[in-house]
Amino acid sequence: MNLSSLLHSILIAACLCLVIVNVTFAGSIHGINRLKCENRNAIQRFQNEKEVAEKRNRIEVLRNEMRIRSSQSHEIDAYIVTTYDEHHNHLDDDAEGRLEYISGFTGPIAYAAITSKSAGLWTESKYFELADRELDCGWKIFDIADDPTISMWLGKQVPENSYVGADPKAIPHQLWFEWERDLNREFLSMSKVKNLIDTIGGSSVASPRDFKIRTQNSTFSGLSWHNKTEALRETMRAHRFDAMVVTSLTEIAYLLNLRGGDFRYVPVFKAYLIVTHREIVLYTNRTKVSIEAELMMNFDFKTNSCFKQKCVIIKLYNDIWKDLRILSTSWNRVLMPSMNNFDLGVSEAIYSSVNREIIHERTSPIVYMRAQKNKVEREGMRHANIRDAVALCDTLSYLEERYMHGDQWTESLLAQQIDRPRHEQNLNRGLSFKTIIAFGKNAAKEYYYPTNYSDAEITNTNLLLIDSGGQYLDGTTSIARTIHLGVPTAEHKRAYTNVLMGMIRLSMLAFPEDLKPSEIDALIREPLWTAKQDYPHLSGYGIGSYLSAEESPIYISYTTKHKYALKDGYFFTVAPGYYKPNEFGVRVKNVFEVVNSDRKGFLEIRVISLVPFETKLIDKTMLSLNEKKWLNQYNARIREVVGDELKRQFKMPAFYWLMNHTEHIREYLTEDEYRKSSSYRLQFNLNYLLILTLILRLKSFIY
Ligand SMILES: *[C@@H]1O[C@H](CO)[C@@H](O)[C@H](O)[C@H]1NC(C)=O
Ligand SMILES: *[C@@H]1O[C@H](CO)[C@@H](O)[C@H](O)[C@H]1NC(C)=O
Ligand SMILES: *[C@@H]1O[C@H](CO)[C@@H](O)[C@H](O)[C@H]1NC(C)=O
Ligand SMILES: *[C@@H]1O[C@H](CO)[C@@H](O)[C@H](O)[C@H]1NC(C)=O
Ligand SMILES: *[C@@H]1O[C@H](CO)[C@@H](O)[C@H](O)[C@H]1NC(C)=O
Repeated sequence: MNLSSLLHSILIAACLCLVIVNVTFAGSIHGINRLKCENRNAIQRFQNEKEVAEKRNRIEVLRNEMRIRSSQSHEIDAYIVTTYDEHHNHLDDDAEGRLEYISGFTGPIAYAAITSKSAGLWTESKYFELADRELDCGWKIFDIADDPTISMWLGKQVPENSYVGADPKAIPHQLWFEWERDLNREFLSMSKVKNLIDTIGGSSVASPRDFKIRTQNSTFSGLSWHNKTEALRETMRAHRFDAMVVTSLTEIAYLLNLRGGDFRYVPVFKAYLIVTHREIVLYTNRTKVSIEAELMMNFDFKTNSCFKQKCVIIKLYNDIWKDLRILSTSWNRVLMPSMNNFDLGVSEAIYSSVNREIIHERTSPIVYMRAQKNKVEREGMRHANIRDAVALCDTLSYLEERYMHGDQWTESLLAQQIDRPRHEQNLNRGLSFKTIIAFGKNAAKEYYYPTNYSDAEITNTNLLLIDSGGQYLDGTTSIARTIHLGVPTAEHKRAYTNVLMGMIRLSMLAFPEDLKPSEIDALIREPLWTAKQDYPHLSGYGIGSYLSAEESPIYISYTTKHKYALKDGYFFTVAPGYYKPNEFGVRVKNVFEVVNSDRKGFLEIRVISLVPFETKLIDKTMLSLNEKKWLNQYNARIREVVGDELKRQFKMPAFYWLMNHTEHIREYLTEDEYRKSSSYRLQFNLNYLLILTLILRLKSFIY
């Protein structure tokens, strides 16, 4: 009996190995081979000479400025430029265009160091290709997550005891602290200097947007700003904080029920906020504050005072620096937000404006308040996702129909097309991030965007990845689907089904309430891991209510350990993927809501994105009975909810398209399918081995 169960396990393991698909794996890239610079003729294809010369000239102007500064105070032998603005957003590409101005690099999350002779840029490896295209050959490109770090590199570029200048407003305190420590090891020091890119004219590149700061009606936010700030004060009181400084723009927008337009995809505005037990002061461009917002905050610009006791005092954006120094003299303990996933905490400039002794760095309590959506926000998120599904079904049915009629599509054409039906939807306020349309081998590049030099024609020979989202007054959406306009190969189907299985298993999950987000990751990736595959990005993150599509604190990744657990009312996206370099890519993404289950101490996950998966890409023999049942229930729900809405909006072609793409699939296998399925093969091999052992035993018995 024991032997047979042992054999059983060995067999299962052995048979699983038979089923595993061998795939070349995209390992992480160390350093970068500058293809463009090795093949200099290629430069002409990407950049014109004038542009190149102009960028080169800007670096020389900057170097000149560094020399001028050096003669004034201490010498600066290197200068650091980042993509961050004063609030270190994760909201847009290079928010103020400074790094782009000096280097030409348009990607997000990067920093550069410029010395008198050299220049280096650090970014995530997924942006290497972009950097290689955009940067002049004078630049070296490095991986932000790998050696050499900026300090190691600078240690080799400049003489000992030199100063490295940087704008303390444009660097999070935590990062500044690390750089300073690492530079000291190289016998270098950080030096706080004003933004030299602004001095040489770089600040004029990103022209300010024209908008008014508006109120987020409580019919969408569910709670008044007063309710929220009182809750915050309670937390502050519990930890004996006299004050808190808020620099994250999404936190300020959430807390005060205000929205603005300083960024393309996230409806926030530039501001600082100080909350004490007596007052709340908002530092922002006062000319941008709408009358309704002024009224809501009970503040009167004419008299420059509150007309009610509960009020938000509105001051000029730059008054924060003077105020911080004065106000902080009466504080004993001040809360300064530390780094938390997408919120990078206060800048070095804010940190150093206050006496270090009274500063306490913590995750902002607003992050957790915001994550747990209230009843009204939850309702809104669900509705926004229904309208967004209508828009996406509309686009997909239009794409398929026009393609059948012989229209030619490119990635960027489809990206433009996809925006239109979203804008038509009620309460829409644009997109929540830059639309990703990736066809064929482009889709194998993680976070690819169509650009003029990569724009591919969409045909029926490969997979098409669509990853996009919308902003609605009642919620933010984010969804990805992978489709095929022709006949997919068995490999396409296998990859898609493995990705889909992770998604379905998550959707069926009930779990004890102290489960951490990183622990969910194993479940999502399990079907891929079983096939010895993985994808090089997060599985998911939090999503806001008419705020950012990437919201702290939720961060689903097995490589990140978390202390907090998921709660009823948390919303997050999950986006598993599969990427086969130079061939194809698969990604699907849904928004999920965490809800209380009927059993105390347990939570459940409910999918709220309602767009059908691509049926023709599903290898049904890979799905279990329960998974197929779930898929049928999901499709039935889409038919009912989204189908009704499509009819209501008279989108009949999209309605019929939806009906065609949500057909019931057979849950039980036919005899023939069963024979082909892996469970049959497993059973077959098991029987075979059992017979073999019997024969062996018989033999030993005989002899
Ligand atoms: C909030 O929205 C409701 C319904 O749309 C509207 O009746 C009300 O006037 C709005 N309130 C404010 C303060 O704008
Ligand atoms: C919000 O504040 C109002 C007035 O202060 C109060 O009546 C109400 O109960 C609060 N609501 C919540 C959910 O705290
Ligand atoms: C404030 O906003 C106004 C109106 O949008 C704009 O003209 C002005 O340049 C802004 N001021 C600052 C300091 O950003
Ligand atoms: C890409 O091409 C379009 C149309 O030819 C043009 O309008 C646009 O400026 C180009 N974009 C870039 C970044 O070169
Ligand atoms: C739905 O499917 C049927 C049969 O496969 C096909 O004839 C019809 O054109 C499809 N309709 C749409 C809108 O895709």
